[in-house]
Amino acid sequence: MAKLLISGSQGMLGQAVTAAAGQTDNQTLALDHGELDITDAAAVTAAIEQFEPDALINCAAWTDVDGAEAAEEAATAVNGGGAANLASACAANAVRLVHVSTDYVFDGTATEPYLESDPVGPKSAYGRSKLAGERAIEAASGDYAIVRSAWLFGAGGSNFVDTILRLAGERDQIEVVTDQVGCPTWTGHLGAALVACAAASEVGVFHAVGGGRCSWFELASETISLAGLGCRVEPTTTESFPRPASRPAFSVLGSERGGDAISLPDWHEGLAGHLAEAGIFNSAASAAQGAK
Ligand SMILES: NC(=O)c1ccc[n+]([C@@H]2O[C@H](COP(=O)([O-])OP(=O)(O)OC[C@H]3O[C@@H](n4cnc5c(N)ncnc54)[C@H](OP(=O)(O)O)[C@@H]3O)[C@@H](O)[C@H]2O)c1
Repeated sequence: MAKLLISGSQGMLGQAVTAAAGQTDNQTLALDHGELDITDAAAVTAAIEQFEPDALINCAAWTDVDGAEAAEEAATAVNGGGAANLASACAANAVRLVHVSTDYVFDGTATEPYLESDPVGPKSAYGRSKLAGERAIEAASGDYAIVRSAWLFGAGGSNFVDTILRLAGERDQIEVVTDQVGCPTWTGHLGAALVACAAASEVGVFHAVGGGRCSWFELASETISLAGLGCRVEPTTTESFPRPASRPAFSVLGSERGGDAISLPDWHEGLAGHLAEAGIFNSAASAAQGAK
């Protein structure tokens, strides 16, 4: 049995990681923001020295992408400084650090999936703050895995899929962009993969996203269809939806790792899992219906 510490445990991903850890025989200590502020270096060290974990999975982050544009220093204090605190305390205590990062570290102009070693070039304050965290973890030279994911949806947090479900319940028609492509990733799948990664020994950067790729338009259409809602989805462009932070047009992550690559199920499976968990879609009943 290993000892696992989870920071940011009440966030959307943190809840999934905590649930996945509960399915293992690990001894888990899950700390939310109120119990452990990762920007407090002394508190981070104390938590690690008291619990003496074998690994720490960090799900704590500043995740307000648009808000970070006007508050880059505050976002960097969490995503850069907080990650640095975790990295140095983990390295000093021989604790493996599994840290979650993002597709936003890339510039989004590629046409082929981004691999772990591809050059980074964030276009937003949030992306720069997350890259600062990656750099701090690499510099601490401990045992670490930086796991970049993208387009997360899951229970207990605000996410695109749930927003679409809400809007589709309120409106006859919604407009969704077709010109941003990525890999939707269910926290149920990623959470279990992060717990497995905590028990692994490979060091470095990993890409971990749902299999396949699609646009936000396709994800919205599939969500509405699976949920059996009647709302029409009309295509639109990013240009018609100006936002404070720039969004990567192409957020497809691939992996150049061999046997130690993190491979998650296809995003359709993740979407069905999320809707089933929410009681909206029963995949077994639907499969039986399709077979008639
Ligand atoms: N959502 C996505 O699409 C996506 C995509 C790629 C990567 N990621 C990464 O995945 C990770 C988890 O994201 P998420 O979607 O689960 O976000 P989330 O739901 O916003 O969770 C983030 C959690 O971090 C906590 N937190 C914020 N500042 C903290 C601090 N100083 N100390 C301790 N906890 C703090 C928040 O608590 P409060 O709410 O109380 O502040 C919240 O519980 C992040 O690293 C994010 O960058 C997310």
